[in-house]
Amino acid sequence: MTTLREYHERTKHSPASVRANAYTLDWDNQPLPFKIYADLDPVPLPTDLAGSQRLALEAIAGITTPPRRALDVGVLAHLLYFSAGVLRRRTYPGGEIFYRAAACTGALYHVDAYVVCGDLDTLAAGVHHFGPHDFALRTLRAGDYRAHLVAATGEAPHLADASVLLVLTSTFWRNAWKYRTRTYRHCFWDAGTLIANLLAVAAALGVPAQIVVGFVDDAVASLLDIDPTREAPLAVLALGAGEPPAPPGALPRLGLATLPLSRSEIDYPLIREAHAASSLTTATAVQAWRAAGTAPTRMSAVRADVTLEPLPAAAIPEPIEAVIGRRGSTRRFRREAIPRDRFATICHLATRPAPLDVAVPVELHVIINAVDGLAPGAYRCGPDGHMLELRRPGDFRDTAGHLDLGQALAADAAANLYWLADLDAVFTRLGERGYRAVQLAAAIAGGRAYLAAYALGLGATGLTFFDDDVARFLAPDVPGMGVMFLVAVGRTRRAAAAAH
Ligand SMILES: Cc1cc2nc3c(=O)[nH]c(=O)nc-3n(C[C@H](O)[C@H](O)[C@H](O)COP(=O)(O)O)c2cc1C
Repeated sequence: MTTLREYHERTKHSPASVRANAYTLDWDNQPLPFKIYADLDPVPLPTDLAGSQRLALEAIAGITTPPRRALDVGVLAHLLYFSAGVLRRRTYPGGEIFYRAAACTGALYHVDAYVVCGDLDTLAAGVHHFGPHDFALRTLRAGDYRAHLVAATGEAPHLADASVLLVLTSTFWRNAWKYRTRTYRHCFWDAGTLIANLLAVAAALGVPAQIVVGFVDDAVASLLDIDPTREAPLAVLALGAGEPPAPPGALPRLGLATLPLSRSEIDYPLIREAHAASSLTTATAVQAWRAAGTAPTRMSAVRADVTLEPLPAAAIPEPIEAVIGRRGSTRRFRREAIPRDRFATICHLATRPAPLDVAVPVELHVIINAVDGLAPGAYRCGPDGHMLELRRPGDFRDTAGHLDLGQALAADAAANLYWLADLDAVFTRLGERGYRAVQLAAAIAGGRAYLAAYALGLGATGLTFFDDDVARFLAPDVPGMGVMFLVAVGRTRRAAAAAH
């Protein structure tokens, strides 16, 4: 068994594992949700962010309309705010939660963004950390270091002339405080929802964007001066097209001080082992991995029992920024049907291919509880979101309500969207690193479903699940099937919306 398959098996939820779980949260040791460099001066980002005025549905679909905007500091600030920025603050008896633009497991916000750029209009070339707490950058290295990243990705296409390379990392402890070993899955889930926002806003601004999952892990960690056993690079995003980078210079160690996250930290070896086993160590290995992963994948055929017609983008006049501003996970759904064309639009947007450096086959399955004109049941969605194969007719509200660990959300929702992947096939084709790619691809799709639901005046929430029960229910015929992501969509209960 591969290390990542073992990680996946050992971190599955089941009714028995949840019953046996006696873990309680140590509130006095809760980590900070921010990485704060103690001794670096902030470089404030502009806050006068104008909306892009591009239609939200087009933006979520990734449709970039010319003219392309040059990636200046205003555009960079816009991209960071609507993907990783703090949009709302809420006090509760134990403290304050700084809600960010994208959904995140437990609102623990363990994903950080680093900007690696050449000279922009008012920002000098450098490696900068983005601090959502004060909406400012902190410069870790001055100078153009993009060539280091380009080399670390084995010269991935589209990277060489990107104006900005954004690196996303996870500091495990900030999420593992609550979720322990499951955190390695959450790295990609929570990076994925952030990337879904980023891709939508980049499309709205006319900024080209590409996601790179294959890179030499240690080289990226050295550039950011992070300890990959605590904070791991997850993805590199290439944004904009501009001047090619300057040749790489020296890369001294920095050893910059950051505020302690909490009184003490607990190490979860399974997370470290999963990350190490899925790491790539040379540019040649990265290139070989990418070559294996670029060949198109074949998915089993989907019978067209139902055809779906999405709404035209113009049906929703709102810009994407307004949608992101309203997004917030639904806490209670009303048991009411949603219109078929809205459901069709969510399926369509959630199946747009993400601009990843490898092709990963993720399947969308849905349990329909209440969609106008569609029989309740379990369906598989075709790869372009335009057709559904009915696999099990019936009312499965109770089943859905069991599968999300017994939370009422999936039972009350109008529909539940599950992303599944044949992990045996993923490991055969893409090795251990494939696990990262497939988790990320599913989470980006889930993030798009979130955005689509809010654009359409509906609500959504990510949910966790009983792994084997979901796979047995939705895809009993594929033994290696793994469940990657779950989003419930439906009509939000008013009181719940106000409480959020
Ligand atoms: C992958 C994922 C899984 C989630 N699982 C659950 C869940 O099982 N139950 C729940 O109530 N909320 C769940 N959430 C919602 C988060 O709690 C929510 O995103 C977080 O509190 C931040 O709030 P916001 O989404 O309203 O900004 C999940 C979110 C994500 C992204």
